[in-house]
Amino acid sequence: MSNLIILGAQWGDEGKGKLVDILADRFDYIVRYQGGNNAGHTIWIGERKFVLRLVPSGILHPGKTAVIGNGLVVDPIGLFEEVEALNAAGIDAEKQLRISNRAHVLFPSHRMVEKISEMGRAPIGTTLKGIGPCYEDKIGRRGIRMADLLDRGYFRECVRGLIEDHETRARAFGIDDEIDADDIAARYAEAAERMRPMICDTSALLNQAMREGKNLLFEGAQGTMLDIDHGTYPFVTSSNSSAGGACTGSGVPPTKIDAVIGISKTYTTRVGGGPFPTEALDAAGDEIRDRGHEFGSVTGRPRRCGWFDTPVLKYSAAINGFETMVVTKLDVLDELAEIPVCVAYSIDGNVTMEMPATVRELAKAKPIYETLPGWKSSTVGISDWDQLPEAAKRYVEFLEAKTGVEAGCVSTGPERMQTIVRVGSKFERITG
Ligand code: GDP
Ligand code: IMO
Ligand code: MG
Repeated sequence: MSNLIILGAQWGDEGKGKLVDILADRFDYIVRYQGGNNAGHTIWIGERKFVLRLVPSGILHPGKTAVIGNGLVVDPIGLFEEVEALNAAGIDAEKQLRISNRAHVLFPSHRMVEKISEMGRAPIGTTLKGIGPCYEDKIGRRGIRMADLLDRGYFRECVRGLIEDHETRARAFGIDDEIDADDIAARYAEAAERMRPMICDTSALLNQAMREGKNLLFEGAQGTMLDIDHGTYPFVTSSNSSAGGACTGSGVPPTKIDAVIGISKTYTTRVGGGPFPTEALDAAGDEIRDRGHEFGSVTGRPRRCGWFDTPVLKYSAAINGFETMVVTKLDVLDELAEIPVCVAYSIDGNVTMEMPATVRELAKAKPIYETLPGWKSSTVGISDWDQLPEAAKRYVEFLEAKTGVEAGCVSTGPERMQTIVRVGSKFERITG
């Protein structure tokens, strides 16, 4: 095994957490490279459910190091809530965690500032965790990083200015949330001392680990269509969730990445606003939502549901360079008599496989569907390809044929064992 990126090929919630958990045993370091606690990665171990937001999913494997890279925005209070929950489950999270000294610190006033846009004229439907405003401060070169937080004197000097700037902006837009800069500074200074043993130069740590022959697993959050550059802008998150982000967000060079695996549902979901060409606004969409428990793991919002979108997957495979994908939640489609798959778009009468650059164009895209027969029988928990109903195999093979990407692994349930690895696949070779 070597260094592998696992990432979402669609609009998030593809089942990345499950896959990272399955593969983590083969790696030494599990590295988050972007986002923050807007992510919700669900892992089922028997009857126990874990939802990880900031902490890499590999934390559930004792002895593995879980790294929060420089590309993240970290809410220390949220982090410790997660750590406490892990401690309660018998996991010594603080021992396994390392946090980049270059990761940005997210403050409660970032959430206040987020209300300006989310309550304004053009809301995105964000998770309201303050992610966008924290990245704005990063790009605006006024953010506070972990290393600044540890520098007590400097932190005391600069934190007030940042929070007051947030307050001034919020007040100008009529937002009158109470915000106490002294209280925040005190709580963050306390959190800093608790984080101090975990904070280090994680790029140096990872590069040293690679020199010692250790293996790294990069855990993407969100999905390619939510990427700030390549996604359905402006209905995106504020970081690079696609493969390139793994390098900039961890300080590991591109030459050290050996493979990328894309995770895709066998259908499509999205949370929040923005165009979604294959959205099923009828009873079939409701059925998928019910069977797939498609409700956000961070906000509890119902996820919008629809059909598999080939142009999205082809686009995602090109940007990320994956030649094998994991298709998840096949079991959710078990009861459907027939299953439409979008094989191309029609935009203003032109048939295209290309992803338009603007949401105005994408909103005009009419999916061209091919409809496949369903299998009307349970695939729940099947772990052997040969045991799948013929129509289910045909469905997966159809997705492969249309996207040109191998489905090397098929997921048939939320638990670790409910997984098919295709014999002789690239997936098997990469992860073997
Ligand atoms: P992530 O953000 O990509 O890690 O995905 P989420 O955890 O937000 O959402 C995926 C949901 O589907 C979680 O509740 C998983 O437990 C669940 N899940 C993952 N794979 C499967 C599968 O093959 N079948 C079913 N029924 N559920 C799955
Ligand atoms: P995981 O890692 C699905 C969506 C939000 C919103 C947009 C911007 O669990 O797949 P943000 O709060 O990031 O500024 O919101 O991105 N979003 C996600 N959707 N899965 C996620 O993470 C998401 N993280 C953010 O719903 O549309
Ligand atoms: Mg999720």
